[in-house]
Amino acid sequence: MDLVCIPILRPRLPDTDALIPYLRRIDAARTYSNMGPLACELAAALQERFAAIAVPVANATLGLAAALLAQAPRPGHLCMVPSWTFAASGHAIRAAGLEPWLVDVDPDSGALTPDRADRALRHAPGPVAAVMPVAPFGAAPDAAGWDDFARRSGRAVVVDAAASFDSLRAAAVPQVVSLHATKVLGAGEGGFVLCGDPDLARRVGAACNFGFAGSRSASLRALNAKMSEYHAAIALAALAAWPRTRDAHADLLSRLKQALPDWAWPTGLGDAHVTNTLVARFPMGADRAEAHLTRHGIETRRWWGMGLHRQPAFADCPRQDLPNTERLAGLSLGLPCHLDLGADDIRRLADSVAGV
Ligand SMILES: Cc1ncc(COP(=O)(O)O)c(C=O)c1O
Repeated sequence: MDLVCIPILRPRLPDTDALIPYLRRIDAARTYSNMGPLACELAAALQERFAAIAVPVANATLGLAAALLAQAPRPGHLCMVPSWTFAASGHAIRAAGLEPWLVDVDPDSGALTPDRADRALRHAPGPVAAVMPVAPFGAAPDAAGWDDFARRSGRAVVVDAAASFDSLRAAAVPQVVSLHATKVLGAGEGGFVLCGDPDLARRVGAACNFGFAGSRSASLRALNAKMSEYHAAIALAALAAWPRTRDAHADLLSRLKQALPDWAWPTGLGDAHVTNTLVARFPMGADRAEAHLTRHGIETRRWWGMGLHRQPAFADCPRQDLPNTERLAGLSLGLPCHLDLGADDIRRLADSVAGV
């Protein structure tokens, strides 16, 4: 008998009924973008949740680029970024006129830490204008640590917190969250930049809107990264349902944690925050695990490929030696982690992982 494949993801966004009240408001207001009433309401709701200013954006990639541009880095200078990240981080750096400088990560957390960034700066291959730390797979960014680093280093910092909606805490430096359909809180496409520094937040807003800050004169290098009212509608409906969605994810994570072997469970996951990106480290290697799980009808994904330095678009970027990135890329494999997983699916997943 053919096995029914367990997909890696089954995104679920608010359904039509949940969207209708918001869509009717768009019909009535006849404002479709340019920080209309729904985008403003979303910004206010996020500000209340995080106690920092939130700028809704069209997607996190543009939000990252705009948050760099808002800090006016010198075009052509370097932006330090961990090679262990998704391609979007590197593309955003280039969209802001900078060149990615690929550095290694902490072997346990898989993240660039402020200490590592300090040490790396002593051996920079050129002038470093900015640093883009990345919070892996929904982990909490080190808000205080990066604020402190930005103050003492004088570098622009923009935190890529694409998957960290639930673990995010306010910081002065901009932190960028994705609301892509694959994220735990999804709006189809979308995101927001959270920034505790009101002046910088205003510049981020301008960098998302052609550089306009109160007039139609472009005041800085900028983009069009605005979120449309339709995407704000989906984000607001998703936010209204978030307490229930979060409970469902927390319950799923606790069932997965009980079922999966201890060695496969990422440190800290599910204790303090929820995510729908479950990345296990397979001691026998992700290649073998992937082949075994595919044979058992379980879809897996290498969310970040083998790191930026192994991807043709970034192969020419300056880089450090990257032993920890290489090791993590060789071991890490994304597993199914979505609300459609039933008890049978979880058992099958756990047995297959244990059987690798
Ligand atoms: C680490 C990281 N950065 C940036 C992004 C880009 O987000 P978006 O699709 O909203 O542009 C992603 C998307 O998954 C991501 O994983």
